[in-house]
Order: sequence, then C-alpha cells, then structure tokens
Amino acid sequence: MKAAVIPGVNAAWELREVPTPVPGPGEVLIRVAACGMCVNDVDATRGYIPFPSFEPAITGHEPVGTVVELGPGVTSRQIGDVVGTTWIRGTCGRCDYCRLELPLSGQAAFNCAAPTSTGFTVQGGHAEYLAVAARETVLIPDGLAPELAAPVLCAGYTALSALRAGEPAPGERVAVLGIGALGHLAVQFARAAGFETVAITRSPDKHELARELGASHVVGSGAELREIGGADVILVTAPSHPAASESLGGLRANGRLVLAGIDGAEPFIIPPAVQYPFFAQRNKIVGATHDDPRYLREALELVASGAVTPMVEVFGAEQVQEAVEKVGKREVRFRAVITY
Ligand SMILES: NC(=O)c1ccc[n+]([C@@H]2O[C@H](COP(=O)([O-])OP(=O)(O)OC[C@H]3O[C@@H](n4cnc5c(N)ncnc54)[C@H](OP(=O)(O)O)[C@@H]3O)[C@@H](O)[C@H]2O)c1
Ligand SMILES: [Zn+2]
Ligand SMILES: [Zn+2]
Repeated sequence: MKAAVIPGVNAAWELREVPTPVPGPGEVLIRVAACGMCVNDVDATRGYIPFPSFEPAITGHEPVGTVVELGPGVTSRQIGDVVGTTWIRGTCGRCDYCRLELPLSGQAAFNCAAPTSTGFTVQGGHAEYLAVAARETVLIPDGLAPELAAPVLCAGYTALSALRAGEPAPGERVAVLGIGALGHLAVQFARAAGFETVAITRSPDKHELARELGASHVVGSGAELREIGGADVILVTAPSHPAASESLGGLRANGRLVLAGIDGAEPFIIPPAVQYPFFAQRNKIVGATHDDPRYLREALELVASGAVTPMVEVFGAEQVQEAVEKVGKREVRFRAVITY
C-alpha cells in the first residue's frame, strides 16, 4: 500500500510503498478514504512532542474509511461499513489508572502506564490501509462524507468534550478562545446547543467568519469579553497559556475556564489582576481532552445532521508534504484532510 511515511524528525513526509497490514483476531482492515491532519501530527514530526515509536513512522489519528476485510472473530462490523478510529485505542488494563475502569478516553493517554495511541505507538491513518480492532472503531453516520467526518475524530471530539466539561446551563454564555480547527467547531457546537456564543480571536480577518459560524459577538481578548458582559464558560482551544490566563478576566461569577489547548512552553497562571475576582467569583479551571466516547458519537451526529460543518482543505495523497507545511505555518482554514 501507499503510505505517508515520516523518515525522521524534521524530515519531509514521503509517499512510499510499504507492506499492507493484515487484520489479526478481532481486527478489521480499513481502506482509508480520508485522514485529517492534526497540529499534533506536525508537532510530532518536528519533535515538539514524541515522534512515532515504530517504523516506518506513519502518523494520523483522524482516519475514516471502509471496512474491506474482517479478522477472525469479528461480529460487530461488516464489510462495507464506513468507520473511523481515534487517537486513543487501548490501555494496558493493569495499572492503577486502568483499575478505575473508566470509559476509554484521551485521559488514558496521560494516565495509563502503557496506552496504545494511533500514529504514536501504532500505525496511524495517513495510509491507504489501517488494521484496527473492531471495538476501537466508530460507525460513521450514513451519508456523512469522509472528508467531513475525519476532523470530528480528534478536533470535533475534543471541542465537544470541552463544551461538555464546561457544563453550560440553559441561558449561559459560552466563549471560545482561538478560532482554529478545534475552535471553529467549538463555536458551532455551542451555537447548535443553543448557547449565546462569543468568539475570542487575535485575527481581525476571522471576525466575519466567526459570526457566520454562529458567534453573536466577536472580541479580541478577555478584557474585551469583560466589556461586553463576560461569559459563564470559556473554552480555550488556543495553544497558549498566556492567552488563556488573560481570558480569565472575562469570566463571570461561578464561571468555568476549560483548558483544551496545549501549551508545552509557558505556564498557566492566574494573573494578579484577576486573583481577587477569581476566588471570590468561585471560578473553576477544568482540563478537557477526548472525554467520553458518547461525545464522539454526539459530535458525529451533529455534523451528519448539518447543524455543524467542519471547514476543511482537502489535499491528495501526493500533496501530503504541502499539507504538512501549511499546517506547520498554521495557515489552514481550518483542518487539512488528506485523501488516500
Ligand atoms: N486536549 C486535547 O485532547 C487536544 C486534542 C487536539 C488538539 N489539542 C490542542 O488544541 C490546540 C488547538 O488545536 P487546533 O488543531 O485547533 O490548532 P489550530 O488550528 O492551529 O488553531 C489554534 C488557534 O488558536 C489561536 N492561537 C494560535 N496561537 C495563539 C497564541 N500564541 N495566542 C493566542 N491564540 C493563539 C489561533 O486562533 P485565532 O487566530 O482566532 O486567534 C489559532 O487558529 C493545540 O494546542 C492542540 O495541540 C488538544
Ligand atoms: Zn489530534
Ligand atoms: Zn493502564
């Protein structure tokens, strides 16, 4: 099969011929139609986060495709099913975290002693074929195009999990910090769920677009959010702790700041200017990742219904390095999806 191989840290991705995986017991073979390119795929290529631990290095954790072969013992999937899989596929089943018997979620990635993760510890989806345990797949709703389903498997799943983690109540206002892959979906999910939604963006050229996605207000900072009355929930999808810290100034009493963006360089602090309001307002800071497989199903259904539509830039497999460079420069609006 053809696959997008990463020859080494900082090397250009290459479309290469590699052995096609064979589905083992309990596994299905997926003919990948499309795979989204998460910023973390590119960050791994650059060595900012751990490089895939296997060879040839093939990453990608937003694959969608058709089941073309069943391994021994598979009963829950059939040939012809359109399925996807996500970043976290399995846990060791034995460590203290696993003994909590929680549903499989992104939490496992950082808590299980030996998690299995797509594109980081086992082959990812930037390839023509992928073998995955049937129980690690999700059925894609009928009629949903692979290019639109793919971004839901990480970006959409994270965005909806963040909204859920913020626990907005009817009538509350939700703000989204950072209008990128996660953020443009978070705005749409919040709006589709009926909340008044505010976009916080550093980019003046995204104001109009943010309104089209469903934001009632668009501001440039937490200070500006405060000027328009603040928000009950702020979903941080920007990869910046300083920006998240600044946005705290826009939190209302009993407000929740949800950290979904990852910033490995700068600390998250409660700035002196908001320390007094923070404790007296009984504000909370909550972490969020892919938090519950039910939210993945919910996110897929919302996209299939047309209530939420990912904005994607589609690249053919032979253009994969072009996509890597564009994602690396953070120029994609809003998710690069590669077809295989
Ligand atoms: N928690 C999880 O499980 C999980 C899963 C996937 C991704 N992530 C993380 O989520 C973050 C967003 O991912 P993404 O795919 O949405 O990235 P993205 O498409 O690059 O979007 C991030 C957006 O944040 C804003 N931003 C970027 N740099 C900023 C800075 N220095 N200060 C303030 N705002 C900044 C920009 O929006 P504006 O132009 O509107 O300001 C940008 O479009 C990343 O940190 C990623 O690693 C987390
Ligand atoms: Zn991702
Ligand atoms: Zn474990």
